Amino acid sequence: MIRSGGARDVPFLRDMLRHAFYWRTPVGDEEPPLTRYVNGWGRPGDRSLIVFDEFVPVGAAWYRLFTQQDAGFGFIDEQTPELAIAVVPSRRGRGYGHELLGGLLDCARKDGFRAISLSVAKDNPARHLYESYGFEQVREDDGAVVMRAPLSAATP
Ligand SMILES: CC(C)(COP(=O)(O)OP(=O)(O)OC[C@H]1O[C@@H](n2cnc3c(N)ncnc32)[C@H](O)[C@@H]1OP(=O)(O)O)[C@@H](O)C(=O)NCCC(=O)NCCS
Repeated sequence: MIRSGGARDVPFLRDMLRHAFYWRTPVGDEEPPLTRYVNGWGRPGDRSLIVFDEFVPVGAAWYRLFTQQDAGFGFIDEQTPELAIAVVPSRRGRGYGHELLGGLLDCARKDGFRAISLSVAKDNPARHLYESYGFEQVREDDGAVVMRAPLSAATP
């Protein structure tokens, strides 16, 4: 089951941020320096999807717009939302990532966005998943790659 997220899901999104940040190592206790990806959730442009396994949330994907002054790592411009995604380790490789990413890109098209961006470590295997949805590298910063996918208009 997959559903839209809201302000009540922010604690879960924070957990998922930890998984995205610590993708290479066991998840640390400290909150990663990524609070701008969830703080004050509910701004115009914010959108999230949560996926469930037997009524337990196991993954999330979301996007939000940033300003030049408070840019995310994958910032391209103020009209392009930046995406984050993670699935809990015990449920990876079962198709949840595809479900979340495909669903969220559909949301972005419906919301009228022309493109979407993200930042991913150069050696993170998730890059292949992103490429299969049309993401292409636009720049490289300090071991991370910023990727962008164009979004065609949604069909009604
Ligand atoms: C990246 C991630 C969200 C994919 O979710 P998932 O549920 O494992 O993905 P799926 O089962 O739908 O598989 C999607 C693709 O990712 C590949 N994949 C499977 N396990 C993976 C893993 N542990 N890490 C990366 N990719 C993986 C699959 O082979 C599949 O490729 P295919 O379509 O060519 O077969 C998930 O692995 C994850 O949370 N990784 C750690 C956090 C992270 O790195 N987030 C991204 C930060 S930018």
